[in-house]
Amino acid sequence: MRAKLEALMRSMNLQEGSSSGKGKKDMKDHKFWSTQPVPKHDEQITTMGPIEPSIPVDQVSKVPAPLPKEFEWCELDMNVEKDAKELYDLLTLNYIEDDDEQFRFDYSISFLKWALQPPNWRKEWLVGVRVASNKKLVAFISAIPIQLRTFDQSTLMTDINFLNVHKKLRSKRLAPVMIREITRRSHINGIFQAVYTAGAILPKPISTCQYFHRSLNPKKLVECGFSRIPHKWTLARMIKHFKVPEKTSIPGFREMQQKDVPEVRVLVNKYMERFDFAPVFETDQDVEHWILPHKEVVWSYVVEDPKTNKITDMISFYSLPSSVIGNPKHKTLNAAYLYYYATDVINATDNSKDDDDQEPPKLLGKRLNDLVGDVLVMAKRLNFDVMNGLQLMDNGLFLQQQKFGAGDGYLNYYLYNWRCPDVDDSKVGLVML
Ligand SMILES: CC(C)(COP(=O)(O)OP(=O)(O)OC[C@H]1O[C@@H](n2cnc3c(N)ncnc32)[C@H](O)[C@@H]1OP(=O)(O)O)[C@@H](O)C(=O)NCCC(=O)NCCS
Repeated sequence: MRAKLEALMRSMNLQEGSSSGKGKKDMKDHKFWSTQPVPKHDEQITTMGPIEPSIPVDQVSKVPAPLPKEFEWCELDMNVEKDAKELYDLLTLNYIEDDDEQFRFDYSISFLKWALQPPNWRKEWLVGVRVASNKKLVAFISAIPIQLRTFDQSTLMTDINFLNVHKKLRSKRLAPVMIREITRRSHINGIFQAVYTAGAILPKPISTCQYFHRSLNPKKLVECGFSRIPHKWTLARMIKHFKVPEKTSIPGFREMQQKDVPEVRVLVNKYMERFDFAPVFETDQDVEHWILPHKEVVWSYVVEDPKTNKITDMISFYSLPSSVIGNPKHKTLNAAYLYYYATDVINATDNSKDDDDQEPPKLLGKRLNDLVGDVLVMAKRLNFDVMNGLQLMDNGLFLQQQKFGAGDGYLNYYLYNWRCPDVDDSKVGLVML
């Protein structure tokens, strides 16, 4: 699988070039980011902590950042159908797309409600910009709280996402105003650090992860212009190559249920200790929100040991379709994205990640291949066309064997006002939506 699928991921996630340096601007050319508490591109960071000190909350400006006079700020309430639909319409027509304008992310309304309303979400962090005269929603940025561990330090931050400016209002420096405003709203609530991802190369990524794609429906991907039949292959051969078994293989593999939440929390938090940049699921409510299956948004599975009834593994994915623009046959590409997973085989002795002299962690590799194999069976059954994933966590142990192809897209991870040494992609545990 090549070309379009990869080109999509490249342009979706690398609007200003890849981490190889293409599209990277000098700090002086970043009129906005050069004024912000973020490291410079060439800065070698060995310590960890805030770049600028927190300010007492009563000294944070009470006045929103000034917008050009034809616009006004608003807050979106995702429990009000009209607001949710307005946000959906803005994003579905204006959010991330490929250079050829063939594919555009199409986050569903249920997905947006889920992603923007985790425990302790705040309405004032779902910030829109409307045209003052007709109240049309033309831009959006969101923050949600996240407990993020960088190396040995866990910090309450905001997770910034869904930054979008209407196509007709691009390059007017609205994005910096929106970032300033969400920062102020974060400060008012006593949070002075943030995490965000972008395809764009900004100062300065803490880590960069490559995209991988696993075809589940080669015929449709080819018809959409999403993948090409490899040289000297036929479509029939491609279909055979990407065929997945009818049934899952691991005894005790089943959908996750409410009663599994406490055990899954312990399992996932333990697994996350393997990484240097990872979320902390502090409460059962966090796991219930983020990991328990959520209709048509998140699918999660556990392995219940048939003998002990202990939950030994979990694995999940979420649904993020793309609109297929101007294709006579297909309107939507059903993409699943690999999400969190965890397994207790790490408790076996040969899996220590930190000891360079150790053999590759065979037991872990075998188990993850089995889990991902089973999740591909489920995704195919659910009619997904492709499973996407990043080279992070322990994905390097299964991507090739499970027939994921490397894309040429990369996702950059950033921290705002938090100095932190670079993190290897295999030490990234955070999956952003
Ligand atoms: C990203 C987007 C909001 C930027 O708006 P814009 O109108 O293109 O750019 P503006 O003139 O408002 O602002 C430019 C500034 O924003 C910065 N910027 C651009 N994309 C950014 C991003 N994804 N995150 C943070 N800052 C970004 C630029 O680097 C520039 O700052 P600089 O001069 O310091 O380098 C807009 O292009 C968009 O909606 N794109 C489609 C959706 C998308 O890609 N969203 C981001 C997902 S990560």
